[in-house]
Amino acid sequence: MSFLDLIEPLKQAAASDLRAAPDLAALEQTKGNYLGPQGKFTALMKQLGTLPKEEKPAAGKLVNQAKVELEAVLVERRAELELKAALPKEPTDFTLPGRRRTLGKLHPLTQVTEDIVRAFRKIGFAVADGPEIEDEYHCFDALNTPANHPARDSQDTFYLDTPNKALLRTHTSSVQIRLMEKQKPPIRIIAPGRVYRRDNADATHNPTFQQIEGLYVDKHVTIGDLKGTVEFVFQELLGEEVQVRFRPHYFSYTEPSFEIDFSSSMVRKMGKEWLEIAGCGMVHPKVFETVGYDPEIWTGWAFGFGIERIAMLRYEINDIRLFYENDVRFLKQF
Ligand code: DAH
Repeated sequence: MSFLDLIEPLKQAAASDLRAAPDLAALEQTKGNYLGPQGKFTALMKQLGTLPKEEKPAAGKLVNQAKVELEAVLVERRAELELKAALPKEPTDFTLPGRRRTLGKLHPLTQVTEDIVRAFRKIGFAVADGPEIEDEYHCFDALNTPANHPARDSQDTFYLDTPNKALLRTHTSSVQIRLMEKQKPPIRIIAPGRVYRRDNADATHNPTFQQIEGLYVDKHVTIGDLKGTVEFVFQELLGEEVQVRFRPHYFSYTEPSFEIDFSSSMVRKMGKEWLEIAGCGMVHPKVFETVGYDPEIWTGWAFGFGIERIAMLRYEINDIRLFYENDVRFLKQF
């Protein structure tokens, strides 16, 4: 076999070995086997010197070409393997919770809110948001609450000193309207947020507190869906033994309307059988008409409940003001 005939098969063998290297260490090893000082390809190059003078130029050219090709294969394979080495060994699980912070803590109300949001997310609810400075239209009129309603009295609501009668929202129900104004049904959202009322502070009232609003609009939505949803979420939050009951009530933006009571060992510890926890109902047809949904086609339910209430039950706290004093000795415990 002539010298020229040796080049191509060796190049092929080297290229295929390089491409087959399973990791960077193996690649370096293979490179050494062919191109290192004792390598097979290096040996071939050394033989060039022993060739007759007239064969040298053609042979030299071929060997060099082969070497350039092998170096290209090497660079390519190295890049592939470096990328592979940089990827995580296990596939990334994007559903895992985030890392816990190493410094400081989340406020207990934030922790409870996050748990509530997590429970609703499991059953397909998205999170919506709205402004804390509202107007009378979104807070009251669009929710079918007439001008002579006591909630609209400045005794109950904080009005801002502005010509358009801006106010601090008294409930998160205003987010329902804002959302339906800009989105077509179906809708499945919750809206946590801060609300304000002119309550004098005592153990169970504070001029600002947090609510979570829920709104579900689709075809053929029933009170059964509402009850199942509420039951699921409360059991996620406060344990399997929690029971829920609906009591008829009145809200201007729902018909029929209910108050939701719930019962658990914690409630019994407080010396009660049932504790009122939320308001809810089927969205009033007038509310749908106001936002331009056809009430003959769309049905829906809504609810609203106080987050502090749930936090107080969960942590067995009997004074709502503790959440707002930000005493580090209190906050440290969560
Ligand atoms: N907005 C009511 C409150 O602040 C709670 C509420 C009741 C919200 C009924 C609703 C509802 O969405 O349907 O007390």
